[in-house]
Amino acid sequence: MWIEVIPDDFSDSTLAMKIKFLSLLAATLLLPISYAHAGAGDENLDAATKARIALFEKGPDKIDVSAYPKGIQADYRVFREKCTLCHKLSRPINSDYVLPSEWSRYVKRMMFKPGSNISKVAAKRIYEFLVFDASVRKKAELDAKLAKLAPAERNAMVAKIDAIHQEYAGK
Ligand code: HEC
Repeated sequence: MWIEVIPDDFSDSTLAMKIKFLSLLAATLLLPISYAHAGAGDENLDAATKARIALFEKGPDKIDVSAYPKGIQADYRVFREKCTLCHKLSRPINSDYVLPSEWSRYVKRMMFKPGSNISKVAAKRIYEFLVFDASVRKKAELDAKLAKLAPAERNAMVAKIDAIHQEYAGK
């Protein structure tokens, strides 16, 4: 064992040697862990975020879109294809993001992750799907968040949601 090669007296050089050994050991142990999660990129998250995300992922991994407009149903397919590359679809499906501003920030964030391969067109469709879906399936959470906004911001958010409903009406 490497511990046995460290003498008992803690001279500076021994300490430096011990630190070197420890970091080498840590690197050897941690390397396979970070490789195993390389696809997800979750390894640097703080504990609270990890716990929140784990809870989302325990929820359903699909949405019944049969009552949504046809165009939104098509966007749902883009969402399913693009947002399952690194994590489960249940992560965004059960997320507490509901506002257009939250989805716009998050879709952009996912878009810029290395290897995500999400075009601007796909990102827009996914964003529109998520905003539409939140306004139907998470209406209570959406209304609660809207109520907390300053009037100008609330009006801007409502206008964005309405525009998406209008864009897809009858399509
Ligand atoms: C390239 C890999 C990758 C792709 C593709 C990807 N994600 Fe993620 N996603 C991550 C990582 C890594 C995290 C955790 C760290 C973070 O939030 O940035 C995450 C976290 C999330 C979270 C939880 C955020 C939180 O803190 O509550 C949501 C919601 C989410 N992603 C939605 C999406 C959506 C929607 C898409 C499709 C547009 C998508 N992801 C595509 C890697 C990806």
